[in-house]
Amino acid sequence: MIRWRPRSLIAQTIIVLMVGLTASHLLSMVVYSGDRISALTRQGDRATAMRVADAANLILRTPAADRTDLVARFAGLSLNATLHEAAPFAAPEAPNAETEAVRGDIAARLPPAAAADVQVMLQAQQDHATMTVVHHLRDALYGEPERMIVRAALPLPGGGWLQLVAPPPEEGADHSALASMAAMVAAIVVAAVWVVRRMTAPLKTLADAARRMARDVNAPDLPETGPAEVREAIAAFNTMRNEVRRLLDNRTLMLAAISHDLRTPITLLRLRVEAFAPGDDRDRMLGSLADMERMIASTLGFARQDAADEPHAVLDLAALLDAMAADMQDVGLDVAYAGPQGHVRLACRPQALKRAIANIVDNAVNYGGRAEIDLKVAADTLRLTVADYGPGLPPDELEKVFQPFYRCEASRSRSTGGSGLGLSIARDIVAAHGGTIALANRAGGGLVVTIALPRAE
Ligand SMILES: Nc1ncnc2c1ncn2[C@@H]1O[C@H](COP(=O)(O)OP(=O)(O)OP(=O)(O)O)[C@@H](O)[C@H]1O
Ligand SMILES: [Mg+2]
Repeated sequence: MIRWRPRSLIAQTIIVLMVGLTASHLLSMVVYSGDRISALTRQGDRATAMRVADAANLILRTPAADRTDLVARFAGLSLNATLHEAAPFAAPEAPNAETEAVRGDIAARLPPAAAADVQVMLQAQQDHATMTVVHHLRDALYGEPERMIVRAALPLPGGGWLQLVAPPPEEGADHSALASMAAMVAAIVVAAVWVVRRMTAPLKTLADAARRMARDVNAPDLPETGPAEVREAIAAFNTMRNEVRRLLDNRTLMLAAISHDLRTPITLLRLRVEAFAPGDDRDRMLGSLADMERMIASTLGFARQDAADEPHAVLDLAALLDAMAADMQDVGLDVAYAGPQGHVRLACRPQALKRAIANIVDNAVNYGGRAEIDLKVAADTLRLTVADYGPGLPPDELEKVFQPFYRCEASRSRSTGGSGLGLSIARDIVAAHGGTIALANRAGGGLVVTIALPRAE
């Protein structure tokens, strides 16, 4: 069985409204026509009886010789007339009240001679082609179909019988019912689309803002528009974002304060150690203090870049990478750039992005001996890769190295080295540009870092 469930609010609303309203519309029409049913039946019967009697009178008054011609003319009209040798049907033995009433109506309009012998039979009209939904429903509800075909027969003076068959009068109401239903459906569709659009447009804005939040927690508050419930959701979202922003600011401030305050005791400690007699111990202590100073300097840098509100500018990424490689080659580092030579424009925070890329390239040179930079330009993304020929990373370290202050065992034991912040800073900056950064080991050994940046924010 195929199960189709419309997912959008518009489709669901339209379907629920249409099914509900159509059902109630049909039901009310049936109940309404049920109320009028006996009155209508009687009226319809009387009108049919009159048509039959008028036709009979016309034929009776016509000379016998012209009757065949006249009868033939009825063909195609709503009333059917035929001539017969004998009585065309046997009159019902025990006619019901309706049949009696119709017979009475016809007889009353005929000359007394003919009136006495009129036979009448009623037949339910079960012609499905002309029955509408409302008829079917009405029949099901009230059992008796109320549309009757009148069959009348009377002997003609001078021999033979005349049979007249008249269908019930047409009901015009069904067309108007259909038209009113179509108008209702059209109105519902238009109204539902309008209402749901109005309701959901702010929801979409909210979803977009939530998706963007990780990148830009400093975006201005969303305007509170739409129905009350949606306004409430938007207000809650704005409050949540402000709360997150406050927490982030507090954290950054605390980090900056601790790093800053630690600088003074470390300087004092260094001065005291410098006063010691020269020797291995003194040198080791000074080395450790220098490490601490470097870590604190980068922590302060980390905290500051978080707070930095560098404005966006358009930058030529290819030119930047080319210049970066050239600068590093100048100081004797093994760095190569193989991408396009310019004209790759990107709107970004230039200083931050430069710092992120420099951190990655530094790592490649420090841990892999050589950095190979490449840039692939697609319609909507820029894909920057930095590859090296070093040892790469164990698979379980590939994600851990992004944590602040995390350094692998191998690098920890190195006498020189950083503080373990380079990758986490790079990831923050790339994420703030709406991009992603990923590490992978290369088949031939070494690590490849891929930065994907969307071109349009
Ligand atoms: N290209 C690479 N090849 C092998 N290991 C790497 C590579 N890049 C980073 N790593 C490992 O990931 C760790 C974290 O790198 P990250 O850049 O965050 O800090 P760091 O280089 O140690 O210090 P900082 O960058 O703050 O000066 C490094 O200590 C190193 O062990
Ligand atoms: Mg580093």
